Amino acid sequence: MFAAYAATTSSDDPLSGLRLGERPTPEVPAGWARVRLRAASLNHHDLWSLRGVGLPSERLPMILGCDGAGVDEDGNEVVVHAVINDPDWRGDDTLDPKRSLLSERHQGTFADEVIVPRRNLVPKPAELSWAEAACLPTAWLTAYRMLFTQAQLAPGSNVLVQGAGGGVATALIILGRAAGLRVWATSRDEAKRARALELGADQVFASGARLPERVDAVMETVGAATWSHSLRSLRPGGTVVISGATSGPNPDATELNRIFFLQLRVIGSTMGTRDELERLTRFLISTGVRPLVHTVLPLEEARKGFEQMESGDVIGKIVFTR
Ligand SMILES: NC(=O)c1ccc[n+]([C@@H]2O[C@H](COP(=O)([O-])OP(=O)(O)OC[C@H]3O[C@@H](n4cnc5c(N)ncnc54)[C@H](OP(=O)(O)O)[C@@H]3O)[C@@H](O)[C@H]2O)c1
Repeated sequence: MFAAYAATTSSDDPLSGLRLGERPTPEVPAGWARVRLRAASLNHHDLWSLRGVGLPSERLPMILGCDGAGVDEDGNEVVVHAVINDPDWRGDDTLDPKRSLLSERHQGTFADEVIVPRRNLVPKPAELSWAEAACLPTAWLTAYRMLFTQAQLAPGSNVLVQGAGGGVATALIILGRAAGLRVWATSRDEAKRARALELGADQVFASGARLPERVDAVMETVGAATWSHSLRSLRPGGTVVISGATSGPNPDATELNRIFFLQLRVIGSTMGTRDELERLTRFLISTGVRPLVHTVLPLEEARKGFEQMESGDVIGKIVFTR
């Protein structure tokens, strides 16, 4: 079958290891399901994988892609939950110490077919297009858990989203607005700030700019470049939820004094559970909001999508179709 996969990894030149070509069609173990993919979306995770982060060389070649939507062998239209749990794990899917994401240990979704445990299939609502459905399992699910499970933000709360253009960040803006939050957003880029306003942000700011007032919560995926600003932007007792560190994991100022003196809460967040993915799809149907899709490309042209993401010149999600 046709696939986009990592043949090698390189921290300096991640795209050098990307290959487009034939890979073996997978066998389906008992309890697992085969999904014929219709769309799959690109995440920063796929670039990290090509850099070798979370993907050691002994697991290569590895088909990339965490997110997908397609049709199972019984003809059901499904969205694929990307968190693969140990079969004996009970409880919150994201807390399983043996969990992995598709494309870390098991072959990913940038292919004609993917196999996953049957419980990882979530019904795809007819109201969502294939491209929209394929955006949900990583970026949109992560945003949903950050806002509603981890920060537990109530309608009317003021939340700051750092790095407005990203896949997770655009989801945070759109979901936050739909839930009645007052959403502020930062971006390095003026055009992305303008787009964030169109998506429902109440106010936008250049990265690092002083805010008119302190916020209840900050949603962080940028990391080192914005961390200090995030903590300085919080009201006493406020919450920062962090799910990524695109610009690096070691900020110059860790602001430890500020964290204890202002009693800030720092909460990590990773992906979301299958139940949260079902709730997210219902939230989209009931509110009418939809993922922001930047580009749709046939999988054969996946390299273009990876180049766009590496350049950072993206607002929303990049989707590959079959
Ligand atoms: N823990 C999890 O489960 C989980 C799930 C999803 C994503 N993540 C992580 O979250 C991060 C974002 O993922 P994504 O898929 O949304 O990536 P993406 O679409 O590539 O977005 C990255 C965004 O980060 C901002 N950014 C990057 N470098 C920056 C810098 N030096 N200074 C300021 N802003 C910078 C940019 O915003 P502007 O250009 O607008 O400033 C960019 O739009 C990644 O690190 C990813 O690995 C983690």
